[in-house]
Amino acid sequence: MAINHLFSTLQLGPIELANRIVVAPMCQYSAVDGVATDWHLQHLMQLGYSGAGLVMVEATAVQRHGRITHGCLGLYNDDCQMALSRVIASARRWAGPTKFGIQLAHAGRKASCNVPWQRHGHSLAADEDPWPTVSPSALPFAADWHTPVELSRSGIQKVREAFVAAARRAVQIGFDVIELHGTHGYLGHQFLSPLSNHRTDEYGGSLENRMRFSLEIAASVRAAIPDSAALGVRITGTDWVDGGWMPEDAVALARSLKAIGVNYVCVSSGGLVPHAKIPVGPDYQVPLAAKVKRETGLATRAVGMIWTPQRAEQIIAAGDADMIAMARAFLDDPRWGWHAADQLGATVHCPPQYQRARADLWPPARR
Ligand SMILES: Cc1cc2nc3c(=O)[nH]c(=O)nc-3n(C[C@H](O)[C@H](O)[C@H](O)COP(=O)(O)O)c2cc1C
Repeated sequence: MAINHLFSTLQLGPIELANRIVVAPMCQYSAVDGVATDWHLQHLMQLGYSGAGLVMVEATAVQRHGRITHGCLGLYNDDCQMALSRVIASARRWAGPTKFGIQLAHAGRKASCNVPWQRHGHSLAADEDPWPTVSPSALPFAADWHTPVELSRSGIQKVREAFVAAARRAVQIGFDVIELHGTHGYLGHQFLSPLSNHRTDEYGGSLENRMRFSLEIAASVRAAIPDSAALGVRITGTDWVDGGWMPEDAVALARSLKAIGVNYVCVSSGGLVPHAKIPVGPDYQVPLAAKVKRETGLATRAVGMIWTPQRAEQIIAAGDADMIAMARAFLDDPRWGWHAADQLGATVHCPPQYQRARADLWPPARR
């Protein structure tokens, strides 16, 4: 029988994933003041038995003002923690070996926005309860967006403490994986890229200085969470803009993250400035992930328009990535993992309530 790479187990630091399929973090814009609702319950329960080895919970704000929109999930107070605990406990109950991770985030200058289905891509207007935004420099994302306040040193420290506090809450909830959001133009990325970071102190200028914010947060979170939890970072492979963040920078960042005990990176790209020309197409970010993996040896997740089981299998088999994350494919088909297993001759967990739909678990003779 052919070796099945996509459905082989993966040791990700302290945890073992049942396979290499990851449900990518996806904002649902369905929280109320940062608190998860029944939408999250149904969303994460069904993805828990999707056949993926790891389900990532959406970008979750570590500070209230770090939310992208009024509907974004948060983990900055007890109400947020209690609601998310209930959701994850329910999802875990039927998820078999599937692990759960959470992406901790701060939107920086891209906070205080409308949800995508209401005036997509616009800052909140004066009558939409906007809030002040922060960034390494007072540079707006685009001309008609809020101008952020430049973060002071004490502001930077507060953000770092908020990441640590949220990570501790995530561990109490029982997440196996903590992921820090460092791409798509949000706060970590704003510090990394010379296009959005014009600081002249130790957090700006050289690559080393621009990486300081992300590395300090990663090191503080690593020190605060138990060894039994895996830590990852979603990084930017490139800004797709001359003079911006480059693939070589991503390699340098991944190397430094590895040195402080980060267990994996997910390599995405773009989102920092609106005028970037992104060559969107099948697998378009895979070469970025492959470069980071090859040059650092760190476990790497590829993402971005990898939609077929065969392609996902080929990417893992070629050694271009260790995991494949998929977002929209799982919205379209929440049992993507089952159908991939059927096509590649593998088996996945299926909760007993649904086993009559699976020929391998409930053969036709018993139906
Ligand atoms: C509805 C939706 C919400 C998303 N929210 C997040 C998010 O919370 N954090 C993040 O890093 N990326 C987010 N993304 C980006 C995805 O994780 C993924 O990188 C992107 O959709 C490309 O993968 P795909 O082609 O498999 O959809 C989101 C994408 C979608 C479609």
